[in-house]
Amino acid sequence: METAEIRRRWLAFFESKGHAIVPSSSLVYDDPNLLFVNAGMVPFKPYFLGQETPPWRRATSVQKCVRTGDIEEVGKTSRHGTFFQMNGNFSFGDYFKAEAIAFAWELLTTSQAEGGYGLDKERLWATVYEDDDEAAGLWLTHSEVPIERIVRRGMADNFWSMGVPGPCGPCSEIFYDRGPDYGQEGGPAVDEDRYKEIWNLVFMQNIRGEGSGKDDYPIVGDLPAKSVDTGLGLERLAAVLQGVDNLYEIDEVYPVLVKAAALTGKTYGAKSAHDAAHSDPDDVRLRVVADHVRSSLMLIGDGVTPGNEGRGYVLRRMLRRAVRSMRLLGFDEPCLQHLLPVSMERMKASYPQLETGFSRISQIAYAEEEAFRRTLAAGTTMLDTAVARARSAGQSMLGGDEAFALHDTFGFPIDLTLEMAQEQGIEVDQDGFRRLMKEQRDRAK
Ligand code: ALA
Repeated sequence: METAEIRRRWLAFFESKGHAIVPSSSLVYDDPNLLFVNAGMVPFKPYFLGQETPPWRRATSVQKCVRTGDIEEVGKTSRHGTFFQMNGNFSFGDYFKAEAIAFAWELLTTSQAEGGYGLDKERLWATVYEDDDEAAGLWLTHSEVPIERIVRRGMADNFWSMGVPGPCGPCSEIFYDRGPDYGQEGGPAVDEDRYKEIWNLVFMQNIRGEGSGKDDYPIVGDLPAKSVDTGLGLERLAAVLQGVDNLYEIDEVYPVLVKAAALTGKTYGAKSAHDAAHSDPDDVRLRVVADHVRSSLMLIGDGVTPGNEGRGYVLRRMLRRAVRSMRLLGFDEPCLQHLLPVSMERMKASYPQLETGFSRISQIAYAEEEAFRRTLAAGTTMLDTAVARARSAGQSMLGGDEAFALHDTFGFPIDLTLEMAQEQGIEVDQDGFRRLMKEQRDRAK
């Protein structure tokens, strides 16, 4: 089933259950804690908190999201993507746990002929928060998940918040068992690669305070009304329904990967027909290209332009990582002109404005690539010389002064120096680099 069809079925199902269809917000959203929208509930936060009255009690959306905290993991696992879409259904003081669970079960297990996703009931598992007897009981009465496949987990896994003070609550996650080829038996607590999380049902009822991590913060109050916030990973479900291993291989992403492989003469998956570690370096690079090209397209589409800080820097870094991955795969010419249109063709069914705005979007991307190619051409020789010098001196670390010179003279951001040095097996003295940067700033004052 194509991704666009999964999205259509989602919205139609929840509309039939009395939910208003709300279009995705822009990725750039005015929330002081967030660089980008990173969950479907972000635009609805004031409704959960009771700061604003929602125009509807039930809503559904497919929200564009970007998460870049794990950018280094992209391509190395089956589940890290920077841009993704989160399908959500929301109740603002309307229904609560029972309906949320019943809706999820119905949509996932109704046959495809009857408009559902037709997942095999035997492969579904549910987790609940450790003391949430109510949710565990509701899974037994509102679904056919047997008690052995209902798992209790602690706060780090089954209590959801935005990572900052705000609405939160216990959650119940739905996992799909991909089978013994993908790992050990025993449920999501044993192997989250075999058992893939596809949907998170959050029972919003509390307010959290300051704290760190996923489980180290106080609960400081209750929300004005018990509510529901759910998030199904559209790309994850697409991978399941399309019978592919990971989100880089679904219909909205794979054509870019195929194009990148054709341009570089690489055969994707050649060395790792079934590589659970997803570790072949060329495959990783092809996945990075596919992921970052799409994310860049979506970010520029939402008005972000490359820059040296904040959102602009995230975009710049992604475009540069895509371009550099292509170089490392052996393609040394401008590549975005070959890749970006492929991504746009795949995404335009759901986001028609990518096609109408493509001349603007592509100009921004191509100009950034040109500028980066000049930066690389100038700085790479210096980096290589510095690495060779460090090696011959028997050092495993590049000096902070050299990283600083690369930055100062050629505009190499430290991330780039780190990545490029690391590829040659060399560390970088980051403390030294930061000290020199600070000295320069102080002098400028
Ligand atoms: N807001 C919840 C999440 O992002 C659904 O997982």
